[in-house]
Amino acid sequence: MKRLQHRNKLMPKPVRVLDKWFEVENNFFLELEVNSCYSVPGQFIQVGLAGVGEAPISIASHGDTLLLNINIVGRVTRMLSKVKPNEYVLVRGPLGKGYPLQSLKGNNLVLIGGGCGVAPLAAVLDYVCKNRQDFESVKCFFGFKSPDQVIFKKQIKHWAELVSINISVDKDLKLKQELKQLQDIERFINFEGFVTQALEQSFLTNNNIVAFICGPPIMMKHAVKVLKSKGFKDEQIFLSMERLMYCGIGYCCHCMINDLYTCIDGPVFRLDVLRSRPESGFE
Ligand SMILES: Cc1cc2nc3c(=O)[nH]c(=O)nc-3n(C[C@H](O)[C@H](O)[C@H](O)COP(=O)(O)OP(=O)(O)OC[C@H]3O[C@@H](n4cnc5c(N)ncnc54)[C@H](O)[C@@H]3O)c2cc1C
Ligand code: FES
Repeated sequence: MKRLQHRNKLMPKPVRVLDKWFEVENNFFLELEVNSCYSVPGQFIQVGLAGVGEAPISIASHGDTLLLNINIVGRVTRMLSKVKPNEYVLVRGPLGKGYPLQSLKGNNLVLIGGGCGVAPLAAVLDYVCKNRQDFESVKCFFGFKSPDQVIFKKQIKHWAELVSINISVDKDLKLKQELKQLQDIERFINFEGFVTQALEQSFLTNNNIVAFICGPPIMMKHAVKVLKSKGFKDEQIFLSMERLMYCGIGYCCHCMINDLYTCIDGPVFRLDVLRSRPESGFE
């Protein structure tokens, strides 16, 4: 097994691509040859190519290889989408602080993710499924635009054997009957509307439970509102925050939320920590 972290955190390390595949247009998976057991779910890496640049991407697995799920939005992600198996990408990390799963043993968990925001929660679920006895009930609410946009299909089938999976789609719920590529996960796609509405209609009490949220800022804001209406305290809610990043190690200040560095103090923050920081959007 290769160790991922280089001693100098600014020095990228070449890492072999084991596999690359698309489940939907403009979004692809990269599987890298590293031992991701050195990472904590919720952490990210800087991944890139020589002469192109690098991008912060969440680690989406917790196992013997490292999985990434990447939306093609600009130059770095587009060039990464052209990489083939057995070629090399440049990696720095794991970086940042993840979800404090060790100290949350014995809790019920609720995981709320939207689109590409499911990625860090995928690492949480890999961890939880490997350590299932450490947690009580685990409920997931994942939202996608429509049934043909659902990603992490293979993983969803596996996770659903051990935890509760609820997938909502913003529109076209009926389309799920016609889609061959859903690989038998259509039974988990059971709600038409925003994921936060599915959450609102679900039965959840605030007893012995913590929530992890990752997705677009507007979705995270609504999810927090719904959880608060169900009696959750700020200390029971963890959010994975995204900011523009360059160094990823607390030097360049690009990722700051008031006095906090998203790259080293986060990207996972407990809600009470964000409350006193107006730049977080959760004040
Ligand atoms: C901690 C962290 C984890 C992330 N995890 C993932 C992931 O798992 N999968 C994934 O697809 N993306 C993830 N992102 C976002 C990803 O880093 C950006 O999409 C990527 O850097 C874009 O690089 P680019 O060169 O392709 O596009 P650029 O040309 O740099 O940007 C294209 C567009 O995306 C916007 N953008 C770039 N970076 C960010 C950002 N950090 N937040 C919001 N908007 C941004 C730019 O403003 C621009 O509008 C994560 C970001 C952070 C900070
Ligand atoms: S990305 Fe440079 S300080 Fe956080």
